[in-house]
Amino acid sequence: MQAHSRLIQSNQAHLHPKLGYVVRRHLQTNDRSPIAAHSREAYVALCRELQSKQRPLVLDSFCGTGHSTVNLAARHPHHLVVGIDKSERRLSKHASGEHDNYLLLRAPCEDIWRLLVAAGQQADFHYLLYPNPWPKAAHLQRRVHGHNSFPLLLQLGGHLELRSNWQIYVKEFSVAMHIAGQPGHIATVPKKAPHLSLFERKFRGSGHTLWSYTTSISP
Ligand SMILES: C[S@@+](CC[C@H](N)C(=O)[O-])C[C@H]1O[C@@H](n2cnc3c(N)ncnc32)[C@H](O)[C@@H]1O
Repeated sequence: MQAHSRLIQSNQAHLHPKLGYVVRRHLQTNDRSPIAAHSREAYVALCRELQSKQRPLVLDSFCGTGHSTVNLAARHPHHLVVGIDKSERRLSKHASGEHDNYLLLRAPCEDIWRLLVAAGQQADFHYLLYPNPWPKAAHLQRRVHGHNSFPLLLQLGGHLELRSNWQIYVKEFSVAMHIAGQPGHIATVPKKAPHLSLFERKFRGSGHTLWSYTTSISP
């Protein structure tokens, strides 16, 4: 990973003007996109793990190499921590941790979220650490809160934390949650806290301000 990272460059200086429209439309419709076969296989691996030892879930969505997944496994020793990333290349760089309460799945997060919701499963904690920002205004619908899978986050429940080095992204996420009836809290990530993920380490090393949004999703 490169040592220095530039600040986000965007043609969007404020919240996206279509944010409210897009979020409301997604809250009113059901996402019916097909689920990839390899996502179903990944989900079966998760079910097997839960059958062998039933534990409450922590999700580490967009986990990259799974560095944060290991840190979260240490933080939540009585949970099963599930890191999800669609990139084989990123996951292949995983350096195994000594904890046995985590699992990495290669799949689009949206597929795993949908399968969990369909099975009535919820998460106690859900971390979304530095998802791709998609800074071009035209890419609003690729951001987590502009995507048609956004309603699934609410259905998965739990204590949710999103982090980004782009303040507008976190503000938009907060507004999307507010539209969905979910209040939350924006703060900066304390500079002295140990880094949770590799991107966090990189952004902090580049002097970026890191933003977090937290909420406890009401059932
Ligand atoms: C900026 S990296 C952050 C990785 C890690 N969370 C960190 O903080 O170090 C974003 C990650 O999201 C993954 N990703 C992007 N879209 C995804 C999707 N729809 N489902 C699963 N992973 C996705 C990418 O492969 C990449 O590893």
